[in-house]
Amino acid sequence: MTLPVHVAIIMDGNGRWAKKRSLPRTFGHKKGVKTIKKIVKAASSLGIKVLTLYAFSTENWRRPKSEIKALMVLLKYFLSKEIGELNKEGVKLRLLGDLSRFSEDIKIEIKKACDLTCNNTGLNLNIALNYGARQEILQAFEKMLKQGIKKPTESILSSFLYTEGQPDPDLLIRTSGEFRISNFLLWQIAYSEIYIVDKLWPDFSKKDLESAIINFQSRQRRFGGVVLEKQ
Ligand code: IPE
Ligand code: IPE
Ligand code: MG
Repeated sequence: MTLPVHVAIIMDGNGRWAKKRSLPRTFGHKKGVKTIKKIVKAASSLGIKVLTLYAFSTENWRRPKSEIKALMVLLKYFLSKEIGELNKEGVKLRLLGDLSRFSEDIKIEIKKACDLTCNNTGLNLNIALNYGARQEILQAFEKMLKQGIKKPTESILSSFLYTEGQPDPDLLIRTSGEFRISNFLLWQIAYSEIYIVDKLWPDFSKKDLESAIINFQSRQRRFGGVVLEKQ
Protein backbone atom coordinates (compact mmCIF):
# COMPACT_ATOMS: atom_id res chain seq x y z
CA MET A 1 0.00 0.00 0.00
CA THR A 2 1.45 3.34 -0.95
CA LEU A 3 1.67 5.98 1.70
CA PRO A 4 1.03 9.57 0.62
CA VAL A 5 4.40 11.32 0.52
CA HIS A 6 2.93 14.76 1.15
CA VAL A 7 -0.19 15.33 3.24
CA ALA A 8 -1.67 18.84 3.45
CA ILE A 9 -4.32 19.78 6.00
CA ILE A 10 -6.74 22.70 6.20
CA MET A 11 -7.10 22.78 9.97
CA ASP A 12 -10.61 24.16 10.30
CA GLY A 13 -13.23 24.27 13.05
CA ASN A 14 -11.46 25.67 16.12
CA GLY A 15 -14.10 28.38 16.57
CA ARG A 16 -17.01 25.94 16.29
CA TRP A 17 -15.32 23.57 18.73
CA ALA A 18 -15.23 26.35 21.32
CA LYS A 19 -18.76 27.57 20.50
CA LYS A 20 -20.15 24.07 21.07
CA ARG A 21 -18.76 24.33 24.61
CA SER A 22 -19.87 27.94 25.15
CA LEU A 23 -16.22 28.99 25.32
CA PRO A 24 -14.51 31.92 23.59
CA ARG A 25 -13.12 31.06 20.12
CA THR A 26 -9.57 31.41 21.39
CA PHE A 27 -10.03 28.29 23.54
CA GLY A 28 -10.59 26.38 20.32
CA HIS A 29 -7.33 27.74 18.91
CA LYS A 30 -5.50 26.71 22.08
CA LYS A 31 -6.82 23.17 21.80
CA GLY A 32 -6.00 23.31 18.07
CA VAL A 33 -2.31 23.86 18.87
CA LYS A 34 -2.34 20.70 21.00
CA THR A 35 -3.79 18.84 18.03
CA ILE A 36 -1.02 20.19 15.79
CA LYS A 37 1.60 18.67 18.06
CA LYS A 38 -0.22 15.35 18.18
CA ILE A 39 -0.73 15.14 14.42
CA VAL A 40 2.85 16.15 13.61
CA LYS A 41 4.08 13.30 15.80
CA ALA A 42 1.55 10.90 14.28
CA ALA A 43 2.51 11.83 10.72
CA SER A 44 6.16 11.42 11.57
CA SER A 45 5.63 7.98 13.12
CA LEU A 46 3.57 6.88 10.10
CA GLY A 47 6.48 7.71 7.81
CA ILE A 48 4.96 10.68 5.98
CA LYS A 49 7.70 12.80 4.44
CA VAL A 50 5.99 16.19 4.12
CA LEU A 51 3.14 17.58 6.21
CA THR A 52 1.70 21.00 5.36
CA LEU A 53 -0.62 22.66 7.85
CA TYR A 54 -2.71 25.72 6.98
CA ALA A 55 -2.53 27.85 10.12
CA PHE A 56 -3.32 31.42 9.04
CA SER A 57 -4.52 32.70 5.68
CA THR A 58 -4.00 36.06 4.01
CA GLU A 59 -7.75 36.55 4.53
CA ASN A 60 -7.69 35.71 8.25
CA TRP A 61 -6.59 39.30 9.03
CA ARG A 62 -10.28 40.14 8.54
CA ARG A 63 -11.01 38.56 11.94
CA PRO A 64 -11.53 40.62 15.10
CA LYS A 65 -8.33 42.18 16.45
CA SER A 66 -8.66 40.31 19.74
CA GLU A 67 -8.77 36.93 17.95
CA ILE A 68 -5.74 37.81 15.82
CA LYS A 69 -3.87 38.88 18.93
CA ALA A 70 -4.64 35.56 20.63
CA LEU A 71 -3.51 33.67 17.53
CA MET A 72 -0.21 35.58 17.52
CA VAL A 73 0.37 34.74 21.19
CA LEU A 74 -0.24 31.06 20.42
CA LEU A 75 2.03 31.22 17.39
CA LYS A 76 4.85 32.66 19.46
CA TYR A 77 4.27 30.02 22.11
CA PHE A 78 4.37 27.24 19.51
CA LEU A 79 7.55 28.53 17.88
CA SER A 80 9.40 29.12 21.12
CA LYS A 81 8.14 26.35 23.42
CA GLU A 82 6.80 23.45 21.37
CA ILE A 83 9.44 23.37 18.69
CA GLY A 84 12.08 21.89 21.02
CA GLU A 85 10.14 18.65 21.35
CA LEU A 86 9.49 18.45 17.61
CA ASN A 87 13.18 19.14 16.98
CA LYS A 88 14.03 16.07 19.06
CA GLU A 89 11.76 14.06 16.75
CA GLY A 90 13.84 15.21 13.76
CA VAL A 91 11.19 17.55 12.36
CA LYS A 92 12.41 20.14 9.87
CA LEU A 93 10.33 23.31 9.85
CA ARG A 94 9.55 25.53 6.88
CA LEU A 95 7.10 28.40 6.83
CA LEU A 96 5.00 29.09 3.77
CA GLY A 97 3.65 32.60 3.30
CA ASP A 98 4.45 36.29 3.37
CA LEU A 99 6.17 36.58 6.73
CA SER A 100 6.91 40.31 6.36
CA ARG A 101 3.60 41.23 7.97
CA PHE A 102 4.43 39.66 11.33
CA SER A 103 5.81 41.61 14.28
CA GLU A 104 9.55 41.65 14.91
CA ASP A 105 9.38 39.36 17.94
CA ILE A 106 7.52 36.72 15.94
CA LYS A 107 9.97 37.07 13.04
CA ILE A 108 12.80 36.39 15.51
CA GLU A 109 11.06 33.24 16.82
CA ILE A 110 10.41 32.08 13.25
CA LYS A 111 14.10 32.42 12.40
CA LYS A 112 15.19 30.69 15.60
CA ALA A 113 12.81 27.76 15.05
CA CYS A 114 13.85 27.33 11.42
CA ASP A 115 17.57 27.58 12.27
CA LEU A 116 17.16 25.04 15.07
CA THR A 117 15.57 22.43 12.82
CA CYS A 118 17.24 23.17 9.47
CA ASN A 119 19.61 20.20 9.54
CA ASN A 120 17.00 17.67 10.62
CA THR A 121 16.22 14.81 8.29
CA GLY A 122 12.86 13.63 9.61
CA LEU A 123 9.40 14.91 8.73
CA ASN A 124 9.33 18.11 6.70
CA LEU A 125 6.76 20.26 8.46
CA ASN A 126 5.41 23.19 6.48
CA ILE A 127 3.29 25.68 8.35
CA ALA A 128 1.35 28.07 6.14
CA LEU A 129 1.24 31.47 7.83
CA ASN A 130 -0.17 34.59 6.25
CA TYR A 131 -0.46 32.25 3.32
CA GLY A 132 -2.66 32.72 0.28
CA ALA A 133 -2.19 30.74 -2.91
CA ARG A 134 -2.97 33.76 -5.10
CA GLN A 135 -0.38 35.84 -3.24
CA GLU A 136 2.11 32.97 -3.59
CA ILE A 137 1.62 32.76 -7.35
CA LEU A 138 1.81 36.55 -7.75
CA GLN A 139 5.05 36.81 -5.78
CA ALA A 140 6.46 34.01 -7.92
CA PHE A 141 5.68 36.04 -11.07
CA GLU A 142 7.19 39.17 -9.55
CA LYS A 143 10.41 37.27 -8.79
CA MET A 144 10.51 35.71 -12.24
CA LEU A 145 10.06 39.13 -13.88
CA LYS A 146 12.86 40.55 -11.73
CA GLN A 147 15.13 37.72 -12.84
CA GLY A 148 14.23 38.34 -16.48
CA ILE A 149 12.42 35.03 -16.94
CA LYS A 150 10.12 35.70 -19.87
CA LYS A 151 8.99 32.16 -20.62
CA PRO A 152 8.15 30.38 -17.40
CA THR A 153 7.51 26.65 -17.49
CA GLU A 154 5.53 24.69 -14.90
CA SER A 155 8.73 23.57 -13.23
CA ILE A 156 10.22 27.09 -13.22
CA LEU A 157 7.05 28.51 -11.66
CA SER A 158 7.01 25.70 -9.07
CA SER A 159 10.55 26.60 -8.10
CA PHE A 160 9.41 30.11 -7.12
CA LEU A 161 6.63 28.88 -4.85
CA TYR A 162 7.08 28.55 -1.10
CA THR A 163 7.00 24.75 -1.51
CA GLU A 164 10.04 24.86 -3.81
CA GLY A 165 11.80 21.50 -4.04
CA GLN A 166 8.97 19.55 -2.42
CA PRO A 167 6.55 17.17 -4.13
CA ASP A 168 2.93 18.29 -4.57
CA PRO A 169 0.47 17.06 -1.92
CA ASP A 170 -0.88 13.58 -2.60
CA LEU A 171 -3.62 13.96 -0.04
CA LEU A 172 -5.46 17.11 1.03
CA ILE A 173 -7.53 16.87 4.20
CA ARG A 174 -10.01 19.48 5.43
CA THR A 175 -11.61 19.17 8.82
CA SER A 176 -15.00 20.54 9.96
CA GLY A 177 -16.95 19.39 6.93
CA GLU A 178 -16.41 22.45 4.76
CA PHE A 179 -16.18 21.69 1.02
CA ARG A 180 -13.85 24.47 -0.06
CA ILE A 181 -10.18 25.23 -0.60
CA SER A 182 -10.06 28.74 0.91
CA ASN A 183 -7.06 29.90 -1.16
CA PHE A 184 -4.79 27.02 -0.12
CA LEU A 185 -2.04 25.64 -2.42
CA LEU A 186 -4.07 26.23 -5.59
CA TRP A 187 -1.17 25.38 -7.89
CA GLN A 188 0.16 22.40 -5.93
CA ILE A 189 -3.15 20.55 -5.41
CA ALA A 190 -3.89 20.12 -9.14
CA TYR A 191 -3.98 16.33 -8.70
CA SER A 192 -4.27 15.88 -4.94
CA GLU A 193 -6.84 13.48 -3.56
CA ILE A 194 -9.30 15.41 -1.39
CA TYR A 195 -10.67 14.08 1.90
CA ILE A 196 -13.20 16.07 3.91
CA VAL A 197 -13.98 15.01 7.44
CA ASP A 198 -16.73 16.38 9.70
CA LYS A 199 -14.58 16.31 12.83
CA LEU A 200 -13.50 19.73 14.04
CA TRP A 201 -9.73 20.27 14.09
CA PRO A 202 -9.33 20.18 17.91
CA ASP A 203 -10.94 16.70 17.90
CA PHE A 204 -8.87 15.35 14.99
CA SER A 205 -6.80 12.35 16.08
CA LYS A 206 -4.10 10.00 14.84
CA LYS A 207 -6.90 7.53 14.10
CA ASP A 208 -8.60 10.11 11.87
CA LEU A 209 -5.33 10.67 10.03
CA GLU A 210 -4.98 6.92 9.54
CA SER A 211 -8.57 6.71 8.23
CA ALA A 212 -7.79 9.46 5.72
CA ILE A 213 -4.70 7.55 4.58
CA ILE A 214 -6.62 4.27 4.26
CA ASN A 215 -9.25 6.07 2.21
CA PHE A 216 -6.48 7.57 0.05
CA GLN A 217 -5.09 4.10 -0.53
CA SER A 218 -8.42 2.95 -1.97
CA ARG A 219 -8.43 5.70 -4.60
CA GLN A 220 -7.38 5.15 -8.17
CA ARG A 221 -5.28 8.09 -9.31
CA ARG A 222 -5.31 8.58 -13.05
CA PHE A 223 -3.69 12.00 -13.60
CA GLY A 224 -5.85 12.46 -16.68
CA GLY A 225 -4.91 9.12 -18.22
CA VAL A 226 -6.75 5.82 -18.34
CA VAL A 227 -6.05 2.72 -16.33
CA LEU A 228 -6.01 -0.26 -18.66
CA GLU A 229 -7.85 -3.35 -17.39
CA LYS A 230 -5.78 -6.54 -17.28
CA GLN A 231 -6.85 -8.89 -20.14
C1 IPE B 1 -9.28 27.31 11.95
O1 IPE B 1 -10.41 27.36 12.75
C2 IPE B 1 -8.13 28.13 12.50
C3 IPE B 1 -7.84 29.37 11.76
C4 IPE B 1 -8.35 29.73 10.62
C5 IPE B 1 -6.86 30.26 12.37
P1 IPE B 1 -11.46 28.54 12.62
O2 IPE B 1 -11.07 29.65 13.53
O3 IPE B 1 -11.65 28.93 11.19
O4 IPE B 1 -12.77 27.84 13.18
P2 IPE B 1 -14.25 27.96 12.62
O5 IPE B 1 -14.19 27.63 11.17
O6 IPE B 1 -14.69 29.36 12.86
O7 IPE B 1 -15.02 26.96 13.40
C1 IPE C 1 -9.04 28.31 6.18
O1 IPE C 1 -10.01 28.37 7.15
C2 IPE C 1 -7.76 28.89 6.69
C3 IPE C 1 -7.10 28.12 7.74
C4 IPE C 1 -7.45 26.95 8.18
C5 IPE C 1 -5.93 28.75 8.27
P1 IPE C 1 -11.04 29.59 7.23
O2 IPE C 1 -11.93 29.29 8.36
O3 IPE C 1 -10.32 30.87 7.24
O4 IPE C 1 -11.80 29.45 5.83
P2 IPE C 1 -13.25 29.95 5.41
O5 IPE C 1 -13.37 31.38 5.81
O6 IPE C 1 -14.23 29.09 6.13
O7 IPE C 1 -13.29 29.74 3.94
MG1 MG D 1 -12.90 28.29 9.74
